[in-house]
Amino acid sequence: METLVGRPYAELHARYVLTPWSLQGNANLPVIVRGEGCRLFDADGNDFLDFSAGLVAVNLGHGHPALAQAIGEQASRLTFGPPSMANDRRAELAEAIVQLAPWEGRGRVFFTTGGGEANEDAIKMARTITGRHKVLTAYRSFHGSAPGAGTLTGENRRWPNEPGIPGVVRFFAPFPYRSPFHTRDPKVEVERALAHLEDIVVYEGGDRIAALLVEPVVGSNGVIVYPDGYLQGLRALCDRYGILLVFDEVMTGFGRTGKAFAAQRFGVVPDAITFAKGVTSAYVPLGGVALREELASYFDAHPLPCGHTFSGHPLAMAAGVAALQAYERDGIFERVAGVEASLRAHLGALAQKHACIGEVRGTGAFFGIELVGDRETREPLVPWQGSKTLGAFTADLLKRGLYVFGRYNVIVVAPPLVITDAEIAQAAAILDEGLGELA
Ligand SMILES: Cc1ncc(COP(=O)(O)O)c(C=O)c1O
Repeated sequence: METLVGRPYAELHARYVLTPWSLQGNANLPVIVRGEGCRLFDADGNDFLDFSAGLVAVNLGHGHPALAQAIGEQASRLTFGPPSMANDRRAELAEAIVQLAPWEGRGRVFFTTGGGEANEDAIKMARTITGRHKVLTAYRSFHGSAPGAGTLTGENRRWPNEPGIPGVVRFFAPFPYRSPFHTRDPKVEVERALAHLEDIVVYEGGDRIAALLVEPVVGSNGVIVYPDGYLQGLRALCDRYGILLVFDEVMTGFGRTGKAFAAQRFGVVPDAITFAKGVTSAYVPLGGVALREELASYFDAHPLPCGHTFSGHPLAMAAGVAALQAYERDGIFERVAGVEASLRAHLGALAQKHACIGEVRGTGAFFGIELVGDRETREPLVPWQGSKTLGAFTADLLKRGLYVFGRYNVIVVAPPLVITDAEIAQAAAILDEGLGELA
């Protein structure tokens, strides 16, 4: 902590660091220097309850000693092993991920440095395997920022990439609270959404579509849990047309929904899973593509067309192995049911009290609070993809000791999976104050 003495880090940061997705030059950001469990600490000694697990990533909480030790040990033994060679930790982690995936232990993993890159590589693999070119993604989706993943993204963070990569076709997926299909009946919503998608498939040519990439629970685009039957319907549609179904589990993977992957939570088996964030509990950057064996073995006879300097980096591998061991040893996925019940109770009580909450929705430890100006009309408190944000609201919460991120009118509640009831109660009390002020 000595390095902090006398240095105006907030100003230095504003002067030299380009901060994602925002106007630059903000010298009022807290200077985060330490984390422990569900708490972040800044250079002035303030602490913040982390109600979004960083960016839906730090599933094991901050400062986990077993992870720090595993990373330290690996750092002194080996920090780089060429991806073209084998590596002990890489083999161990790939095996452990395949054991968690929904393919009865049969599959293989390609490692990347993050989620966006994983999505790009998954698409490249799907195009290579199928010999087809087009890819389907949902409008209300985020799949990464760089031009490839940014084009796969449906929402407005895609726009700066345009015209983007060719061949990406988008569709509307169910959103019961704001149905694009003009119904408040989830069953009708699913039927209409699947019919709409099939129309698109027919018009695009089913035999020209390599993959359908979808977040099994929509994350930063509003935490939307698809109604029963939709993911199953996607599986059936993909089977009919020979399209590979890819689940983007960058947010939902590694326990967020109470199972290893949302695939198991919803009982739908995709052909490939992309992951990042929780695989190392965000201790070292890591992402990847897990493929079921029937697809992975295609590359026994055809060279894999993907590669990165940092693919399977030993430090990330060591962090991943230690994280997966901690998930299992500490029964983390199993404890999510209790976290879900507590979040449902506390956030539900806030919804009863505050008229600006239109809906609380979610599953596992993954909830969205949708803020509205009018509960009857459901008019959003700030328009989705409009010029306004709720930045002042989240900044106010931060002053009160709560870190939570939001996008337009939806607050994303996704705490570390180790959060206690007492911490959830404390976070809810701060939200209560903040919402009272907002009104
Ligand atoms: C669902 C989803 N996919 C992909 C990404 C991109 O991952 P990364 O930022 O590691 O490239 C994100 C990031 O938040 C995400 O939420």
